Amino acid sequence: MAPKLRSSLSEWFKKNKRDLPWRRLASLYPTVVSEFMLQQTQVKTVLPYYDKWLKRFPDFQTLAKAKEATVLKHWEGLGYYSRARNLHQLAKDISKLENIPKDPEDWQQFKGIGAYTAAAITSITYKHPVACVDGNVIRILCRLTADHTIYKDNTQAMKAFTPLADALLDHVEPGTHNEAMMELGATLCTKANPQCQVCPLALGCLAKDDKPESLPKKVAKKVKLETIDRAWVLTDKQLLLHKANDASRRLSGILELPALEMLGTSNRALKKQGQSPFLTKKRGISNSQITEPIWQLTGISVADNPDLVWIDRDQLDSATLSGPHKRWIQEILQKDQLELL
Ligand code: ADE
Repeated sequence: MAPKLRSSLSEWFKKNKRDLPWRRLASLYPTVVSEFMLQQTQVKTVLPYYDKWLKRFPDFQTLAKAKEATVLKHWEGLGYYSRARNLHQLAKDISKLENIPKDPEDWQQFKGIGAYTAAAITSITYKHPVACVDGNVIRILCRLTADHTIYKDNTQAMKAFTPLADALLDHVEPGTHNEAMMELGATLCTKANPQCQVCPLALGCLAKDDKPESLPKKVAKKVKLETIDRAWVLTDKQLLLHKANDASRRLSGILELPALEMLGTSNRALKKQGQSPFLTKKRGISNSQITEPIWQLTGISVADNPDLVWIDRDQLDSATLSGPHKRWIQEILQKDQLELL
């Protein structure tokens, strides 16, 4: 069965693959950049960043020489900023090497590169015969085998499906095969709407007539509800922001509105004074649903804190903020402008 499925998948991919910029050049640097950007991020989100990044940092050497602030600025809005720092570090490491490794195990020694990214980079660039196994591939293989096991998380499911992924792998064109599997998961074998009528793997799929959308079965993850009250401190010219320090893995170096606690106050204290937030925003990060009420603070004295920075209003565009905070701040300032008219 494996050879039939493999060739059917390959035919389908040849005819149906999306024209994605990183597919035009299967060379190392563009592949590495795309794989870092695509970690936990959809293709449509990555597209506007990818071309700009390659123009500004066309190779490992240019990226290695860039300042961290410049690198983060180009990543602004893509989220999970540790990826940008890890990619920057990787460029510095690779630029010093005489021989670039070709083995996925060696690639996994670099920070920020797990089994999936190492497999994608080495199979696409060097045709190393290793299968990529991520959520998309797990979904396809779980349906193909009509596996109703309840996996406790992705890691467990990944372990279970790696042997099958390896057995299906095309050893002549492993990179193209891996990309075909990614493409199938992203376009046909989707979570909610599998399109089995046109699927190249339907000929061997055990779940195609039996609710494929119900697979894979997973333990429902609890969504963590969090509230972070934020301070809006705006003077004539400047807005007060908090720069996350290295202790924050996710946001280190990124600016956001400060939490009330950083300014020695709390929502309780402000409520007691009869105040209420002028705006409340929500965002989702991994399994957290975060509510962020924003409170206007006036006439406060800001204690000396190296992590609190005043940014000129006209410099906000060039400051590196998290995506949601950038949008919210723009929205508030625009509304402010309209109300002044
Ligand atoms: N997701 C992760 N890597 C990818 C790639 N190379 N093409 C499309 N989607 C991806």
